[in-house]
Amino acid sequence: MKQFQIAENTWKIGTNLGNEELFEGIWPTPDGVSINAYLIKEEKTVLIDLVKKGRQFIDCYEAELNAVGVSLKNIDYLILNHMEPDHTGAMGELFKLNPSLRIFCTKKAAPMLKAFYGIEENVTTVSDGETLDLGNGRVLTFFETPNIHWPETMMTYDNREKILFSCDAFGSYKALPDGKAFDDEISEEEMKAFQAETLRYYANIVSTFTPFVLNGLKKLSSLEIRIIAPSHGIIWREHPETIVGWYTKLCGLATRGDCRITVIWSSMYGNTESMLETVLKTLDEEQIPYSVYKVPNEPQISYLLADCWRSEGIILGMPTYEYRMFPPMAHVLDLIDRSHIKNRLVFRFGSYGWSGGAQKQLDEITSKLNWTFLNPVEFQGSPKNEDREKAVCEVKKLISEIKGGRNGEVTPKEGYSF
Ligand code: FEO
Repeated sequence: MKQFQIAENTWKIGTNLGNEELFEGIWPTPDGVSINAYLIKEEKTVLIDLVKKGRQFIDCYEAELNAVGVSLKNIDYLILNHMEPDHTGAMGELFKLNPSLRIFCTKKAAPMLKAFYGIEENVTTVSDGETLDLGNGRVLTFFETPNIHWPETMMTYDNREKILFSCDAFGSYKALPDGKAFDDEISEEEMKAFQAETLRYYANIVSTFTPFVLNGLKKLSSLEIRIIAPSHGIIWREHPETIVGWYTKLCGLATRGDCRITVIWSSMYGNTESMLETVLKTLDEEQIPYSVYKVPNEPQISYLLADCWRSEGIILGMPTYEYRMFPPMAHVLDLIDRSHIKNRLVFRFGSYGWSGGAQKQLDEITSKLNWTFLNPVEFQGSPKNEDREKAVCEVKKLISEIKGGRNGEVTPKEGYSF
């Protein structure tokens, strides 16, 4: 078994989850996801974060600890940066093995620990800036970083080795490749895949909390950080500034997306789809990068959110269904709203049978997103030539607005601009 030593007396332990289960019960992870935890062995032996529920995971952790002369039975301290069960599900099993374990977590985490696992003894709550001395000159400092990703979240900073144990922040989907954990071990191709999966992870589970991520980045900016050790994904020991740059860019996309468009469409009998062809032809002629998603297609929603997060323009092709939005599209718009995909330029087109109404509901759903709508093009039944002309005109206006004010900045058609 390969050991991932990240500093003196410090190891990554952890497991890769496969693609069998949806992350958080909703998001697909076709390339898996890693759950990273960390072991520090000084005068005190400390585990930072844990793993989801499952005997196989505890057994795997025990084997990794044994390889460096430690057992779960003699861990002194467990630091819980975050209560979400992907990092705490194994609490019950660990406690059975080691009932005298002392837990450190934030004040907000303590009642959750009781509610989720019935644990309230041996718990020490810590506040922002409090420290924990492990002996041998090793002191950890805790930084409360609420809502990255739950309200009780904190990060742990290792003052001696300058390691930031950042929990969900700076994380990504995608399992770690065999035998690799550090950024300097990851190939260029793998790095590109991690970049894509960082965007999707951010858009799926972090984007809602972007103002808190910005607060966290500001709070941590004065720390000297040599290594970033997140709970998911790559450990950044050679270029930690890379992942900080990625997250800074991802936060910035909340204000203005890249020069690209995400097209989301659905059609009942092919009439809205017929107009889609006109819209896509215009996008091709105007040479702007775009992605297309047909709705419904539940597994694709995770990717749709990622593309919406990075696109300044959104085009919605959606028929009216019984005076309101086409129901699967309403579901997508609800997720877009929850993900706080704000400040976008939006054009909608769609067919109706006997009466419109989709736009009214769309306006209601997106009222807090600060979307700027171009004139919608709605048509009864199939689109006529004048409808197509209007749509082409609106799409060209949309593209012109998106391209404006970028000083010739070009967004790559493939890959990512961060
Ligand atoms: Fe990786 Fe919010 O848990």
